[in-house]
Amino acid sequence: MTTKRRWTSWAFNCAARPLWPWRTRDRKVLTASHTPVLAEEALRWLRIEPGGTYVDATIGLGGHAVRIASQLTTGRLIGLDRDAGALAISSERLKDFGGKVVLVQADFSRIDEVAQELSLPPVQGILADLGVSSFQLDTAERGFSFRLAGPLDMRMDSRSATTAADIVNETAESELADLLYRLGEERDSRRIARVIVRARPIRSTEHLATVVAGARTSRGRQKLHPATKTFLALRIAVNRELEALGQFLKRASATLAPGGRWVVLSYHSLEDRMVKQEFRRLGAEGVLNVLTRKVLRPTDAEIAVNPRARSAKMRVAEKLMPVAPAEKLAS
Ligand SMILES: C[S@@+](CC[C@H](N)C(=O)[O-])C[C@H]1O[C@@H](n2cnc3c(N)ncnc32)[C@H](O)[C@@H]1O
Repeated sequence: MTTKRRWTSWAFNCAARPLWPWRTRDRKVLTASHTPVLAEEALRWLRIEPGGTYVDATIGLGGHAVRIASQLTTGRLIGLDRDAGALAISSERLKDFGGKVVLVQADFSRIDEVAQELSLPPVQGILADLGVSSFQLDTAERGFSFRLAGPLDMRMDSRSATTAADIVNETAESELADLLYRLGEERDSRRIARVIVRARPIRSTEHLATVVAGARTSRGRQKLHPATKTFLALRIAVNRELEALGQFLKRASATLAPGGRWVVLSYHSLEDRMVKQEFRRLGAEGVLNVLTRKVLRPTDAEIAVNPRARSAKMRVAEKLMPVAPAEKLAS
């Protein structure tokens, strides 16, 4: 069991943070690993300057962060995550970098406020690797996976109020159907919402997965588990992922130095569409130069060794020099 210990200070550097007791008791947590997706490509596009300041907005288990930090000499890496458990693991993993790495429990939608609170200079790069980590998916008690028996939770930040059980048990049927359709792109959303409402109360992942599987019409052989889209939609709703991404996309470019690189990895079409549109808008306003005309995907070889990479899409942009008003008039 994890203790409900809260952060006493919201930012710490990796050398200074003492171990939490639960981490030493829970071997699985201590050894959790996550193979970073498109790691070489992300690092290449970030073009790390050894003295630069970088933000990993979704540090997770520190897979990308280790690679960034090891290229820094006098530079710094700020790692954000809203999951205290992920930060505990990445702080352990990054402890040898000492004060070069600073971790903050924060939502990336607040990236500009965090930068201000830490008095950061404009940064040379921002990485966002969206979605959930394998640690979250593979920890049954977190309730993210239909494959593992656990409570219907799905909160990335365990301090937030709403769990998946709250949404499943308290949302009106038509609203639930809309949510499944909109966030999970679930074509059977109406039928699934109806059986969920009939089966209430639903408190566990197993129960929900069974109820949803019973509601699906069979359309030949299906590649996905019948509850995949329902779980995805609920996770996005519980964590208000699209709202957070929208704020991040609006606010992050203010933190970048001219020439700074911004790399975003997304895992489903709703996220990727938002990234594409916001990069395009900022490009048209002369704030960014979009470097990836076409989205970048992992190779078959990467997908073969890391199946979680299969839906990844990467987009990269570079912050432009602000144009002086006189130059704007002349152009
Ligand atoms: C795919 S994992 C990142 C994995 C990481 N790049 C690595 O190599 O270990 C995504 C992480 O982003 C975090 N996350 C998701 N949404 C977030 C948000 N709005 N603010 C901060 N962290 C968020 C999750 O808690 C999770 O740990």
